[in-house]
Amino acid sequence: MRSLFKFRRGPSGNSQKITMMAEDKQKDEYHGTVPRHVAIIMDGNGRWAKKRLMPRIAGHRAGVDSVRAVVQRCGEVGVSALTLFAFSSENWRRPESEVGLLMELFLVALQRESKKLDQNNVRLRVIGDRSRFSEKLQQEIVNAECLTADNSGLVLSVAANYGGRWDIAQAARQVAEQVKAGSIEPAAVDETLLGQYMTLAALPEPDLFIRTGGEQRISNFLLWQLAYSELFFTDTLWPDFKQDAFDLALQSFTSRQRRFGRTGDQVEENKRA
Ligand code: IPE
Ligand code: IPE
Ligand code: MG
Repeated sequence: MRSLFKFRRGPSGNSQKITMMAEDKQKDEYHGTVPRHVAIIMDGNGRWAKKRLMPRIAGHRAGVDSVRAVVQRCGEVGVSALTLFAFSSENWRRPESEVGLLMELFLVALQRESKKLDQNNVRLRVIGDRSRFSEKLQQEIVNAECLTADNSGLVLSVAANYGGRWDIAQAARQVAEQVKAGSIEPAAVDETLLGQYMTLAALPEPDLFIRTGGEQRISNFLLWQLAYSELFFTDTLWPDFKQDAFDLALQSFTSRQRRFGRTGDQVEENKRA
């Protein structure tokens, strides 16, 4: 991945304070707090296409370019994990033809992009209940995951046939199995333990959540993991969401004070300490 910036990492905290210096001398030095993990609901593809009198699938296809742009930008600014909502457990309710075309697009995108992701040191994983996908798509997902498994750069999680409630339920089911087997005492089941069985357990929780397309709702995305994320909603439709739009979200994140239940004064004191 071509990096436009050099990074200087500061003391590790909840999010890393970094200074980005443009290699290109024309660009100004940029200071910002970079979220470690960004989660995005990529919404608005259908409306983008409709505005252009095109079929909805044209919007979904155009959305793949935005995925590429955001993945590249994450690499440049030092975001270490990106989670993208591609298909919700509720999206099966769409017309069969749109669902079919989306599955086809997913397959083609995996085939076309996984090599490039690998070259850019990105580790791809798909989260969600994949059992409902065709054998071919399931195989392509495994291929892409295996190809990129040893990469040490951006962790890109694509949520497909994913639902936040499904995620909590599958974690609870695994814990229940352990309790039944006698390896966990019911009294030991707490937030920390259950959290270890959630799909993104290995990653820090999202620092920044973005939803494009103007709606202000979570739509059954990462219900457990978004507990303390900073929320950013934009009217920009996903196919128009490129580097500039993403930078606006990153800038907004920089201006937030994350208190996690403490007072603002406590947070300031902590920073000075
Ligand atoms: C998001 O765009 C993509 C998926 C849900 C697969 P939409 O298809 O929801 O676009 P709008 O909301 O209809 O514009
Ligand atoms: C959420 O978008 C799911 C994805 C972006 C994959 P939707 O467009 O399906 O959400 P709702 O139904 O409008 O809430
Ligand atoms: Mg939508």
